Amino acid sequence: MKYIDIHCHLNFDDFDLDRGEAIERCREKGVGMIVVGTNIEESKKAVKLAEENSDIWAIIGLHPTEVQNEKFDYEAYKKLAENPRTVGIGECGLDYYRAEHASKTLQQEVFEQHIALANEVKKPLMLHLRSGVGEAQNAYKDTLEIIQKHAKVPGDVHFYAGSLDEAHEFIKLGFRLSFTGVITFARNYDEIIKSIPLNMIMSETDAPYVTPAPYRGKRNEPAYVTEVAHKIAEIRGESLDVVLPHLVDNARKLFGI
Ligand code: NI
Repeated sequence: MKYIDIHCHLNFDDFDLDRGEAIERCREKGVGMIVVGTNIEESKKAVKLAEENSDIWAIIGLHPTEVQNEKFDYEAYKKLAENPRTVGIGECGLDYYRAEHASKTLQQEVFEQHIALANEVKKPLMLHLRSGVGEAQNAYKDTLEIIQKHAKVPGDVHFYAGSLDEAHEFIKLGFRLSFTGVITFARNYDEIIKSIPLNMIMSETDAPYVTPAPYRGKRNEPAYVTEVAHKIAEIRGESLDVVLPHLVDNARKLFGI
């Protein structure tokens, strides 16, 4: 494994026509991947993919924008969490971006259930955090309080988009930060990528979303994580020989793979 995509949705219908080929394109480049669930059905699909492929691992959970559609069935998720191919709990967290999402109270309650599950099975958390407008809608700040109080396991903040100060707070609590293809075309992540320790950064695609340059306009896929990894090295001004093995090692350490 030369690269790893620690957060993709190869389980989604977007890959129904070419899932096998997308996996093959990863193998050609030495890309391993972690497939992330967003509800019970997608979580089951993630575990199945991980059971069928030795270079795929699963993360299971109920996405914060789905908590109004599905009740978090702790026992059902626990069964998936205990599967040896499952390496984390999520994606879970807080999404204050749109008013039609569930209330903060419900989101925080379901988030805390995920944390309890992660603590129970001793597997790391995969966090999805998205703020709304204004300090009262800062999902990063609320999450720091919640994990400080409840989490006994480390984790990753997927698609990190908080401030530099918050980045250091997460790192202090043992949370890694991962970046998507957005870093290939938006420059507002550069300062954070340069300032945090190399052992706390991870590479992801969030495929089928946020396609990196030079593939923008096409569906994203996990094989494109090579672009993200190369860009992390470029932004930091470090060689690929140093950065690529670190990105794989960081994922191996956090997820025990
Ligand atoms: Ni995602």
